[in-house]
Amino acid sequence: MVVAGGVAMAAGVRFSRDAAAEIGAGSIAALPSEGGVAPWDYWQSNAGAGALRVASGAILAASPYNTQPWLFRLGSNEIQVIADEKRNLGGLDLFRREFYMGLGCAIENACVAAPSQGFNAKVSLLPDGAADGVAATLAFELTPASAHPHQDAIARRHTHRGPYQRDRQIETSILNAFNRQATSPDVKLLLINARDDAGKAFSDLTLEGTRRILDVESLREGRHAGIRASASGTNIDEAAFQKIDKSWLELTQAVTCATAPSFGLIMVRGSRADHRLHIEAGRLWQRIHLEGVQRGLALQPMNHSIEVIDFETQGGGNSSIAARMNLGGVWNGWEPIFGFRVGYADGPAPASGRRPLSAVVIS
Ligand SMILES: Cc1cc2nc3c(=O)[nH]c(=O)nc-3n(C[C@H](O)[C@H](O)[C@H](O)COP(=O)(O)O)c2cc1C
Repeated sequence: MVVAGGVAMAAGVRFSRDAAAEIGAGSIAALPSEGGVAPWDYWQSNAGAGALRVASGAILAASPYNTQPWLFRLGSNEIQVIADEKRNLGGLDLFRREFYMGLGCAIENACVAAPSQGFNAKVSLLPDGAADGVAATLAFELTPASAHPHQDAIARRHTHRGPYQRDRQIETSILNAFNRQATSPDVKLLLINARDDAGKAFSDLTLEGTRRILDVESLREGRHAGIRASASGTNIDEAAFQKIDKSWLELTQAVTCATAPSFGLIMVRGSRADHRLHIEAGRLWQRIHLEGVQRGLALQPMNHSIEVIDFETQGGGNSSIAARMNLGGVWNGWEPIFGFRVGYADGPAPASGRRPLSAVVIS
């Protein structure tokens, strides 16, 4: 198969760079239209070429509640990643922090996929501010085709919500590899041993955050909007939501918090309402997840307490949760905007469904 600039053919699907350019010009009829797990198969079978192939990797990225808040405008030598404004979590994501982090995850996957097509992606974040909805422009410089170090991990990266081996610590070399993923001066990673005081605080505050989300109507409604979006059209009634919420609280306590050997926080220097920082942090999360998967680890975001910090600080007030995070000196000037756990699990996590390319590529 030729992927570096000409034609790629797999699973009966044939696209060329010219086709990708044509798609950029408005002909989107030929795009794969099957969602669910089909986009994972499409990527795995090496289908598509050029900008289309890059977009097919981007849509496999993480996003809050699997809302997939992205659209893509494809050209022969660039991609625009566009915010799909309506796919947000409302009151649960007051600063649109998670929304833009999801866009950052897609941008990162696109950058990982690009070298296989002979593209080096030059990324401009929010080229016109956030006003016109363009989260990023990826301009492609031609380069010899190569595999990005995280290329193979795109297909295997899934959020793992099962039990982790609590007593198996993560090797220092891997923790160092995670730290090396933080390449922007305003975004950093804080790794926390679950057995330390900071780890116990992280766990307690996650549970407190979970209860607050279920108790406060605007937070709960935002969560339910996210569940509805990821259930894609399925009607979930009030009784079903009560069951889902109850088991979420139980799972958070008995599995998510109780079995994690390590937690992590992504911190940003600046305002927690800054979309550029959100996108950078999303890119970092995606890189950490890809790096971890490649090294045999399981990872899961844990943002229950972070969402409550947004809620508590939206009007400029202080956050009681943030004050108890036990972050000591590292707190000064830095905001925690994303939490997660990482460890070894006994098996892989399942893939979650995706919107098809035909639904997210626009002219
Ligand atoms: C900004 C952001 C916040 C997230 N927060 C959580 C969370 O608090 N708990 C959780 O289980 N998953 C969380 N996720 C993971 C998403 O639910 C997941 O990426 C999505 O369902 C797609 O599944 P996948 O990651 O397995 O492809 C988050 C993802 C992103 C990008």
